[in-house]
Amino acid sequence: MQHIDGEIRRLVEDMFETMYAAEGIGLAAPQVGVSKRLFVMDIRDPEAEPRAVINPVIVERSGSERSDEGCLSVPGVYGVVERPTRIVMEGLDLDGKPIRIDASGLLARCIQHEMDHVDGTLYIDRLSPIKRKMLLSKFKKLQREAAGR
Ligand code: NI
Repeated sequence: MQHIDGEIRRLVEDMFETMYAAEGIGLAAPQVGVSKRLFVMDIRDPEAEPRAVINPVIVERSGSERSDEGCLSVPGVYGVVERPTRIVMEGLDLDGKPIRIDASGLLARCIQHEMDHVDGTLYIDRLSPIKRKMLLSKFKKLQREAAGR
């Protein structure tokens, strides 16, 4: 993405609204059908302000830990994913200024999860085939129940 224009700003506003309405902590542009390298996040921590990140790149990774993840693209189910504990991400903010975030804990996990979306991957793709199958069948059951079938 070369140019941050009004269209991008409106998209970011819409994405924040969608994320908050769904009580999520992150949302990436591909999740709303827009193939741009962009995500928004708010982990509801006073130490980590809400942010939109454009053209994000992870430049450092260290450690490894397993923790539960869920996703607004596959609502109602959760799976344990192993990821680096700490990462450093670089990108641009909405004013086109470079940002660099050194993150661990939930923030690092959220950024990596959203980066996966930007790259066209879901967290369930990182599970073993059996776990993924179980999770998807539970997800489909929930969807059928929600539809009253
Ligand atoms: Ni997600």
